[in-house]
Amino acid sequence: MKKKYQIVTYGCQMNVHESEKIAGILEEMGYERTEGEDADVIVFNTCCIRENAENHAFGNIGALKKRKKERPELLICVGGCMMQEKGMPEELKRKFPFVDIVFGTHNLWELRRLIEIKSSGRKKMLVSIHDKEGEIVEGERPCRTSYPNAWVNINYGCNNFCTYCIVPYVRGRERSRKPEAILEEVRSLVAEGYKEITLLGQNVNSYGKDLENGITVPKLLDQVASIEGKFRVRFMTSHPKDFSEELVKVIAKHEKICNLVHLPVQSGSNAVLKAMNRRYTREEYLEKVAMLKRYLPDAELTSDLIVGFPGETEADFEDTLSLVKEVGFASAFTFVYSKRKGTKAAEMENQIPEDVQKRRIMELVALVNSLTRVKSERYLGKTVEILCEDYDEKKGMFLGRDVYGRMGYFKSEKNPIGSFVTLKITEASGISLYGEEV
Ligand code: 5AD
Ligand code: SF4
Repeated sequence: MKKKYQIVTYGCQMNVHESEKIAGILEEMGYERTEGEDADVIVFNTCCIRENAENHAFGNIGALKKRKKERPELLICVGGCMMQEKGMPEELKRKFPFVDIVFGTHNLWELRRLIEIKSSGRKKMLVSIHDKEGEIVEGERPCRTSYPNAWVNINYGCNNFCTYCIVPYVRGRERSRKPEAILEEVRSLVAEGYKEITLLGQNVNSYGKDLENGITVPKLLDQVASIEGKFRVRFMTSHPKDFSEELVKVIAKHEKICNLVHLPVQSGSNAVLKAMNRRYTREEYLEKVAMLKRYLPDAELTSDLIVGFPGETEADFEDTLSLVKEVGFASAFTFVYSKRKGTKAAEMENQIPEDVQKRRIMELVALVNSLTRVKSERYLGKTVEILCEDYDEKKGMFLGRDVYGRMGYFKSEKNPIGSFVTLKITEASGISLYGEEV
């Protein structure tokens, strides 16, 4: 019988993709995936962007205490962003001494060796964290779980130091993968039948700055979208300060590149944007949006928004609401500011009380949802092409997304997962669409 593994992932797409790499390592070691309680190895891939992500991970690791006592041979591994925080491995040791292996974001490729060392009879917790980012490791074979979508890293780390954000501390400085390696990976994914390629980086617009060959994200996108075959190209995340006309021209040039840009604005208030160290103003952001629409009138935007940043006044918050209305985001991730130790904002005065934060987030969510609903209703009676990606057992329907990321459900006699399907939309409900194949 093969040994089994389970991976528990928290956080962003970067982590989801890194879990695919962890799965690749474990499968190469001969383990097979399980979601049940029969795992021989459990890996937690943690996130520390907000406090609640950390609390979830702590809760779930703690819940394994009993299982580990009953089955001491169960290997519990904890990796990811949280482990790169100063003092966190020590805290883990204190709270959960039964954890076997602790590793970080810079040495995921070491997991095989760590498991082998630990399995050879070592009793003590094995902690291996690299403070520095080191060279990019190529040649990994991720075990992908999201067919027909595939994530492809283009750059790692972040140099921006937004004052609320812990990412630059746990993910290190920006470094870019070589374009040849990226193009090779995309080519083989397309040959394997993947239909949507999402280029990933904490700040994709910085891609290539650390390489000497003059490569930039528009040039890379141009090359990726020139690969033959029918597939979609997405990229995230773009920092508005670096979102350029050259990039927009490439999006406009290629049918394959989706006309949807994730452009996190965070706040609509100039005072807050300055305190966040975002390095653009509300007006500059709106100018970028206008520039995008000049080239691509049909383009849609999505965003990330934070409420309750230290010092955010009622007027600042109103500025965020008005910006959201003015841009008309297709959808947005909305967050309550969470204090992260070690960041500049954590030291700022005027932290906003929880009740105020809660009221603001509810108001913002209601606004974002109402915009999304209005956009959904515009789909009624129209035909859209979706890429079928899964089957929803509860609904008994297949589902997929259009180029704008909008989810469409439909019934089908055959299995259309992995193919493009044209739907006539008959019902719009919140963020979801329902339709019939035409
Ligand atoms: N509190 C709340 N939201 C945060 N984000 C990053 N750091 C924090 C924080 N400390 C949000 C930003 C970012 C997204 C990935 O997470 O909106 O764009
Ligand atoms: Fe965090 Fe800002 Fe870097 Fe995004 S750009 S990862 S919000 S520091």
